[in-house]
Amino acid sequence: PSVGLIDARERPLRDLRISVTDRCNFRCVYCMPRSVFGRDYAFLDRDELLSFEEIERISRIAVAHGVRKLRLTGGEPLLRRGIEELISRLAALRTPESRKVEIALTTNGSALTLKAQALKDAGLDRLTVSVDTLDDELFQRMNDVRFPVSRVLEGIEAAHEVGIGPIKINMVVKRGLNDHEIEPMAARFKDTPYTLRFIEYMDVGTSNGWELDEVVPAAEIVERVGALFPLEPVGARATGETAKRWQYVDGSGEIGVISSVTNTFCGTCNRARISTEGKLFTCLFATEGHDLRALLRGGVSDAELSQAMAGIWGARDDRYSEIRSELTPELRAARPRIEMSYIGG
Ligand code: GTP
Ligand code: 5AD
Ligand code: SF4
Ligand code: SF4
Repeated sequence: PSVGLIDARERPLRDLRISVTDRCNFRCVYCMPRSVFGRDYAFLDRDELLSFEEIERISRIAVAHGVRKLRLTGGEPLLRRGIEELISRLAALRTPESRKVEIALTTNGSALTLKAQALKDAGLDRLTVSVDTLDDELFQRMNDVRFPVSRVLEGIEAAHEVGIGPIKINMVVKRGLNDHEIEPMAARFKDTPYTLRFIEYMDVGTSNGWELDEVVPAAEIVERVGALFPLEPVGARATGETAKRWQYVDGSGEIGVISSVTNTFCGTCNRARISTEGKLFTCLFATEGHDLRALLRGGVSDAELSQAMAGIWGARDDRYSEIRSELTPELRAARPRIEMSYIGG
């Protein structure tokens, strides 16, 4: 087994985020607004998607290069037919020599009640579910497809009951939309088996009309939660983590804050992304991906694919979140950006 790849800023490759579909049954206002992702939006055709065999092959090579976590995202990953089969294939990549490789999934939770047992049986290790508010009226307004929050909460319970764990809850905070739900969300998930993480709203893609003043800084979130339930910082579990961890002083669990805008974490970023159609992106904000699908379908050998991936990671220099603050709003807006549902959040 190789010791792993190091990029141009001395960051290792540890985490591969794989988008398995660009489709979603939600139309979250900050991600796939209906005005852009409407009835006639052209999603990818089936044959454009990487097949399970192709995903497995890329993953196997990534693991040989030192990847420790394979995270399935989208779009909504549970919409991809046969996702359980993909998870078991990926779980089978774990060999005694490849040390521990974790299989994780980020979902909107809408199909969890139905799928929890199958995901567990397939070998899923970790689960993250997006919940932006507990207020059903607001939840339905934010997903814009009238999906009730109670069904997502039910799905989370179902996943816990079948023994998938640990489970995290992601809340994207947008000022003026759901930031009044910070405290109720903290209260609801304190003292539960679930770790709540607050995420600063980011300028991904070009369809959400992001403005800096809509970001609630992580420091403000921690202060607001801490005013209700005193918090103290906890050290990172591993380098390169997205979330800063804080624990409740009374021992009733912890929260995380992901401050991709006000306190960037590019310096330790060890994540690569595979888009739905098989492009390798070395940053969430990269404007161009590397077409691995063309290589795969052109008949490359494993050795050639492995070498291509090593070359791409070796040349990696991305640090968009650090650069963001140096850009004027005009320059920022002019820069092309890839939609999150395509590149995989
Ligand atoms: P854990 O393995 O549980 O730590 O998950 P994670 O935080 O890596 O992944 P998750 O899918 O839960 O993403 C949480 C939030 O962090 C989402 O809003 C992601 O878009 C964002 N995020 C994840 N990785 C990156 C990254 O490399 N850069 C930036 N800017 N944001 C990221
Ligand atoms: N900013 C921050 N997080 C976002 N997500 C989707 N769009 C954005 C955005 N603009 C979140 C989803 C999910 C995770 C993968 O990314 O809610 O929890
Ligand atoms: Fe779908 Fe997740 Fe985007 Fe919402 S944030 S539209 S659930 S992919
Ligand atoms: Fe990594 Fe790019 Fe996110 Fe920075 S902006 S943390 S380099 S994915």
